Amino acid sequence: MAFTLPDLPYAHDALAAHGMSAETFEYHHDIHHKAYVDNGNKLIAGTEWEGKSLEDIITGTYQAGSVAQNGIFNNASQHWNHMQFWEMMGPNKTAMPSELEKAITESFGSVDKFKEEFGAAGAGQFGSGWCWLVKDKDGALKVTKTENGVNPLCFGQTALLGCDVWEHSYYIDFRNKRPAYLTNFLDNLVNWENVTSRL
Ligand code: FE2
Repeated sequence: MAFTLPDLPYAHDALAAHGMSAETFEYHHDIHHKAYVDNGNKLIAGTEWEGKSLEDIITGTYQAGSVAQNGIFNNASQHWNHMQFWEMMGPNKTAMPSELEKAITESFGSVDKFKEEFGAAGAGQFGSGWCWLVKDKDGALKVTKTENGVNPLCFGQTALLGCDVWEHSYYIDFRNKRPAYLTNFLDNLVNWENVTSRL
């Protein structure tokens, strides 16, 4: 099935009061995410991947070794990453559900320590990429960082939370201050109920 650009789950200006402007969403969702969808569809047409699930395309083309497969991987994974990212944020700041708080505390010692580790992973990702809270194959929660479009699916992990640290995600609102963008993301933008539903 061809990729399609989903609508944002909220209005473009819904997070403006929380540090992510309508202008950022106009570029990030309407232009950047759309380009991954359009380019992915062009590259996949007529290949063995046409009609396959998005997850199968991502895991099947990751490090497959050819330029053509790399192009499909980059666009397919970025399409998946951005769909998760929009859902992982929300305009209604909610408390972290106790189930998630317990799991995070068991793995990191405290919610603050988790936030510190997550922020450090995002700030420390050299160049474009993502930082993640994942549930690993053994059930443990871990913080990871990935380059470009690589995501937890590539490693058999479940993505609980991901933050886009490509410059297009923060430069309009935070200029070069990626750590401030990450702090704001964790404190004001995350939909913790969505994160908990992925456990
Ligand atoms: Fe992005």
